[in-house]
Amino acid sequence: MAAHPAASPAEARKAVSHAHPTPLSSTRASALSGRIRVPGDKSISHRALMFGAIATQRTTITGLLEAEDVLNTAKALRALGCPITKAGTKTGATWEVLGRGVGGLTEPTGDLDFGNSGTGTRLMMGLIAGHDMTVRMTGDASLSKRPMARVLDPLKRMGVEVLDGATRLPLSLRGTSDLIPIEYRLPVPSAQLKSAILIAGLHAAGATTVIEAEATRDHTERMLRHFGAEVTAVERDGLRAITVKGDGELEGRAVVVPGDPSSAAFLVAAALIVPGSEITIEGVLVNPTRTGFYTTLREMGADVAFLNEREEGGEPIADVRVRHCKLSGVRVPPERAPSMIDEYPMLACVAAYANGETRMEGLAELKVKESDRLAATADGLIANGVAARAEGDTLIVQGGNGVRGGGMVATHLDHRIAMAFLTLGLGADRAVTVDDTAMIATSFPEFRGLMEDLGAKFSDPETR
Ligand code: S3P
Repeated sequence: MAAHPAASPAEARKAVSHAHPTPLSSTRASALSGRIRVPGDKSISHRALMFGAIATQRTTITGLLEAEDVLNTAKALRALGCPITKAGTKTGATWEVLGRGVGGLTEPTGDLDFGNSGTGTRLMMGLIAGHDMTVRMTGDASLSKRPMARVLDPLKRMGVEVLDGATRLPLSLRGTSDLIPIEYRLPVPSAQLKSAILIAGLHAAGATTVIEAEATRDHTERMLRHFGAEVTAVERDGLRAITVKGDGELEGRAVVVPGDPSSAAFLVAAALIVPGSEITIEGVLVNPTRTGFYTTLREMGADVAFLNEREEGGEPIADVRVRHCKLSGVRVPPERAPSMIDEYPMLACVAAYANGETRMEGLAELKVKESDRLAATADGLIANGVAARAEGDTLIVQGGNGVRGGGMVATHLDHRIAMAFLTLGLGADRAVTVDDTAMIATSFPEFRGLMEDLGAKFSDPETR
């Protein structure tokens, strides 16, 4: 292991984002229209790179999300000895991963910096777990506050050591090629946790089972099968038991990454907020473990249609057409949370324009995302004249009285808070300003450009 340099890339990055925040305002727009595509799904992009890295031979990926979070995963895999290259073609880039086989990664010479990415960090813990090596993992200020014990606890039961006993980044993991298979019931509904255990299980001698009470996104299960792993999912006493067979091989494959429904959510919301809008987003992932936002919008009365439904690379996709219409507040039940966990800030901002109260329940997990999104969302709405409050794990928004705007939103290094509130401003009386937009590059660098293509208006707060 290399000695830690005085200023790690993560520390340098922290300094940059504090020294040069890039605030931005959004203002009332006239009708949005157009047909567009959004970049590839973030969850699927991370997994395609990781599974390619532990498969045999060559994996090709088209539609990979080229955002900071995913690029950090690619960088970490290269540091673990896996060649990853990108070639441009007329129809878009193809990424090539030359897999090292299950258990074939090698110890890096320096720290692995995951930037802002919880998914990169937690899934990679499962991957490192099955290798005889020590790895120090770091991240930015937001990631360094997020809980890691949920992943480390089951991995420790499988044989992993946490050298410094830490439960947050930075921390050093010691993996082993003698992992013990386990059966583990998830204490929190988390696809990242489920995936970390299943990925570690690929390296264990025997079957590893994860039991979940609420269905979380199932991209790991689908993609592992695509790579040839034996993965089964069965109902057991009303719960879902997912089992992966260890000590097998994955085979390099072609992966096509569909459009990210969590990125599309901002554009869909914009069309619902701005009167007269009609837009279509092509090729969006509509896996039922990801579409809770769209289900909720329909319950609010939204005209959102999934057209031309089809399958690509083992995942269902569709063209999402949305037309502006009047919305009503609804109660969003807690059991829906896993299928729309990243969309609550955006939904809460849409709810500000819906008549009546929207009550979103069961949001404990929102408090441990890139920021405490429950508090950040309520605070941002209040700053812009919307009646909102957090009560325990519930977020309540009183909508239908217009959005005054004029407020400054604290983003807390959280990309989704920045994008949700810039979208809120497209229908507000006065501009809505977010204190920093740098983090948008972690998941959706094309956000501003695509919004502007549809007709949205943004401005520099100083020159307004
Ligand atoms: C993700 C799972 C979710 C989600 C995150 C991506 C994944 O996190 O919020 O953006 O790719 O597995 P949790 O597993 O912590 O709920």
